Amino acid sequence: EAPTKKVAVTGAAGAIGYAMLMRIASGQMFGPHVPVELQLLETEQGLKPLRGVAMEIKDGAFPLVRGIKQTADPNTGFGDADVAVLVGARPRGPGMERADLMSANAAIFAVQGKAINDAAKRDIRVLVVGNPANTNALVAAANAPDIDPAQFMAMTRLDQNRAMGQVAIKTGTPVRDVERVVIWGNHSSTQYPDLSNALVNGKPALDVINDTKWVREEFIPRVQKRGAEIIGARGASSATSAASAAIDHMHDLFVGSGDAWQSLAIRSDGSYGIDKDIWYSVPCRCPGDGVYERVLDIPPPDEYSAAMMDATRKELLEERDAVKHLLPAATGKQTST
Ligand code: NAI
Repeated sequence: EAPTKKVAVTGAAGAIGYAMLMRIASGQMFGPHVPVELQLLETEQGLKPLRGVAMEIKDGAFPLVRGIKQTADPNTGFGDADVAVLVGARPRGPGMERADLMSANAAIFAVQGKAINDAAKRDIRVLVVGNPANTNALVAAANAPDIDPAQFMAMTRLDQNRAMGQVAIKTGTPVRDVERVVIWGNHSSTQYPDLSNALVNGKPALDVINDTKWVREEFIPRVQKRGAEIIGARGASSATSAASAAIDHMHDLFVGSGDAWQSLAIRSDGSYGIDKDIWYSVPCRCPGDGVYERVLDIPPPDEYSAAMMDATRKELLEERDAVKHLLPAATGKQTST
């Protein structure tokens, strides 16, 4: 039998947690032969509903589930974890400024980064879903000085999936035949969903679509603002699609997705001319076993793409500045590696 994966999930009693845990339990994250131990982390107030969620997982009678831990203590929650999905975050309250939200969340992710550093396996892979996801990943990594920051990722897979879905609809093709759609930058409305390298049935997507006005005036803004569109329709933020994207991200990272391109918000190493040390979404190949490799063999961006990539880069630099005072361990290792 494959070794058990210990999976820590924060915000486990929230909407995304609720939609994601059954799928982890059923083997969709690591494959149908990998047992899992769930380490569910919530706030003190969240522990009661979490108890109900844990009861439901037990009632699912999943053969792969080897244990369910429930805790409000980060060191316990991340103890010996192989994988962490950081979903729990402070939602934006009435009258709360973006900067306040940024600081409130940075505080949460600083604590969690420290706990991961102290308690988790050294080769843990961490996926940040809670917003502002890219900057929360930066904060968590900065507070985990003994763990390679490359092991911390933020999720832009939902944006990629949304973009692929829109291209599939526009071209009347199954989404399976849409490839190499890239999300650059921040998981926010400045992200750049890029079709420059995309293929539909193996042909350049931009030729198949043949409608620049649609790409720039409908497709890009729609993907950028899809979260708000879902809230408008559903009255609540996207949860089941976010959970599904987290499953996809981790599945491809651990099981592998061959030559396919997947967008991952990872610490910039200076590739593509992006400032080092911001968490910027780029295209990667995922060979499996927790490894990703940037796709570097692509033509340089045209003027339009370069401007789009730059706008989201600037936003990430501003976000980093907004949390600078909360990055105690940020100097040293972050800039020297
Ligand atoms: P939710 O409010 O339903 O659930 C969040 C849960 O996190 C709550 O149960 C809360 O008690 C818990 N929590 C808060 N602080 C915590 C802490 N310090 N430790 C442990 N648990 C904590 O929210 P939902 O819908 O599940 O969304 C969660 C986050 O995911 C939000 O920040 C949302 O903006 C973000 N999100 C990100 C997406 C992405 O593509 N990256 C897509 C959709 C949502």
